[in-house]
Amino acid sequence: MSTFLYIKNMLKDKHIASITPTSRFGVRKVCNKIDFSKDNVIVEYGPAAGVFTEYLLSRMTRGSELILIERNPSFVAILHKRFKDPRMSIHHDSAENVGDILARRNGAAKADYVVSGIPFTFLPDPVKDRIVSDSHQVLNTGGKFLPYQMFFQKDRHLKDHMHHYFPRVRAEYCLLNAPPLRIYEGVK
Ligand SMILES: C[S@@+](CC[C@H](N)C(=O)[O-])C[C@H]1O[C@@H](n2cnc3c(N)ncnc32)[C@H](O)[C@@H]1O
Repeated sequence: MSTFLYIKNMLKDKHIASITPTSRFGVRKVCNKIDFSKDNVIVEYGPAAGVFTEYLLSRMTRGSELILIERNPSFVAILHKRFKDPRMSIHHDSAENVGDILARRNGAAKADYVVSGIPFTFLPDPVKDRIVSDSHQVLNTGGKFLPYQMFFQKDRHLKDHMHHYFPRVRAEYCLLNAPPLRIYEGVK
């Protein structure tokens, strides 16, 4: 069902940049970097139909919170229909506004993890840099920025930008995804 939705929406919106959801192997490889044993504030950029959202909600503690930021209106409607969990909120907005979104909330203005599926390759450098810098800014010390991208992405598209802000950045591949993924981990 989701592959059909991705293709249908991608024909109208180039920012979707994928024709199929991340595989369960990809979702686990990214989420293995999260400590689910404690209460967390997790932000997700670009959830689309919610393949990561579903997994995160299944692993999060009752006291955790999930903040979704999705710019495509069709996916926002699907997320509202699909998920009714009181631990999450859905924001029809861009990742560029993560600072404002967190600041408007009554709860903590900081996050423990930012998981991101947005395609950085297509973004102009100043936008890319702002998203990486703001993601760093909203994280607690020790928090993690966890973007996943297509495997062929060059360092200059994202990793080099992450090095400007995060003292530790790692990259690894997930081959069990079509196409394979490059998964980054920036620790604040
Ligand atoms: C490659 S899809 C990833 C979808 C899903 N997370 C997955 O793993 O299958 C990228 C998603 O990011 C969204 N997106 C792109 N740019 C965005 C931005 N600046 N802010 C929030 N969402 C964005 C797109 O609408 C799309 O839903």
